[in-house]
Amino acid sequence: MIIGFLGKGGSGKSTLSTKVINFLSQNKNNIILAIDADYNMDLLHNLEAGDDLQFLGDDAKFLMKIVLDVDEKAMYADIVLDKNNANKFSISQPDEFTEKHSKKIKENLRLMAVGPHSDNVLNGKMCSHGLGALLKAYLPLLRIDKNEYVIVDEKAGVDSVGTGIPSGFNMSIIVVEATVYGVKAAKQISNLLENHYHLPYAYIINKVKVDSDLDIIKKELDEKHIIDYIPFGENIDDIYAEKIIIHVQKYIKENGDNRYTQSILKFKNNMLT
Ligand SMILES: Nc1ncnc2c1ncn2[C@@H]1O[C@H](COP(=O)(O)OP(=O)(O)O)[C@@H](O)[C@H]1O
Ligand SMILES: [Mg+2]
Repeated sequence: MIIGFLGKGGSGKSTLSTKVINFLSQNKNNIILAIDADYNMDLLHNLEAGDDLQFLGDDAKFLMKIVLDVDEKAMYADIVLDKNNANKFSISQPDEFTEKHSKKIKENLRLMAVGPHSDNVLNGKMCSHGLGALLKAYLPLLRIDKNEYVIVDEKAGVDSVGTGIPSGFNMSIIVVEATVYGVKAAKQISNLLENHYHLPYAYIINKVKVDSDLDIIKKELDEKHIIDYIPFGENIDDIYAEKIIIHVQKYIKENGDNRYTQSILKFKNNMLT
C-alpha cells in the first residue's frame, strides 16, 4: 500500500510517518520505501539517513524519461494510463531509477527524498514543487506487492494536495493538530481531496491535550473519517501506527487497489517536464 501523511505544519506528519515506518520495518517480511516529499527533510533526519543520497532534485526526471522511454512532450496521464508502463518501478527488485534515487538504510528499508532547493529553483527557473513532481508518475507506476509499503511524508498544508502527488496514494492520512488552525487546515485538505480529486482520506487527531479540544473536532470534522485520537506526550504508542495500517488495509479490501485511476485524468494536460 501507498500512504501519504498530510496536514498543517507542525501537526505531526514527520513524527507519525517515522513512527509508521519504524513500526513496519520491525517485521522483516515487510519491504518499505520511505519518501520525504518535504524540502525541509525532517523524515530524512528522523531516519538518520545521512545526506549521501541522490535526491530527486531536478535531475531525476531525465532518468525517468529514459526508463519510461518517453519524449519531451510526454503527458502524465498518457504515461500513467499506458498499460505498457504499469509496474515499471519496484522496491523489492529495484529498477534503475529506484536504485539510483533511493538509499538503502536497512535491509528492508529504502529512503527517497525530494532534496533541498536546487539552483533552478533558487534562480527562479523552476517552482520548488517541481522537485517532487515526478512522484506523480513514479507512484502510480510502482509495483506494490502484499508486504510492500510506501510511506510519504508530505509538505505542509494544501500545497501537498495541489501537486497532485496524492493521486498515487491508496489513502491520504490527514494529521489534524487538535487546534482551531489544525482543524481548518485539515478541512481545506480534505475538501480538495474529496471534491476536486475524488481521493480517499482519513484523519488522525494529534496532540490532544484536554477533552475540550475534542469538541471543536467533533463539530467540524466528519467522525466517520477519524481513525483515532493521539494524546499530547513524549512518546506515541505503536498502537496508532498499527491502527493507521489496519484502516488503510480495510479500505483497500473493501474498495480494491484502485489508486490513481479516478484522479489521474486531472493531469491530462500536464507535461512530465
Ligand atoms: N503527540 C504529540 N505530542 C507531543 N508532541 C508532538 C506530538 N506529535 C508531534 N509532536 C511534536 O510536534 C513537533 C512537530 O512535529 P512534526 O512531526 O515535525 O510535524 P510536521 O511534520 O507535521 O511539521 C515536533 O517537535 C514533534 O516532536
Ligand atoms: Mg514534517
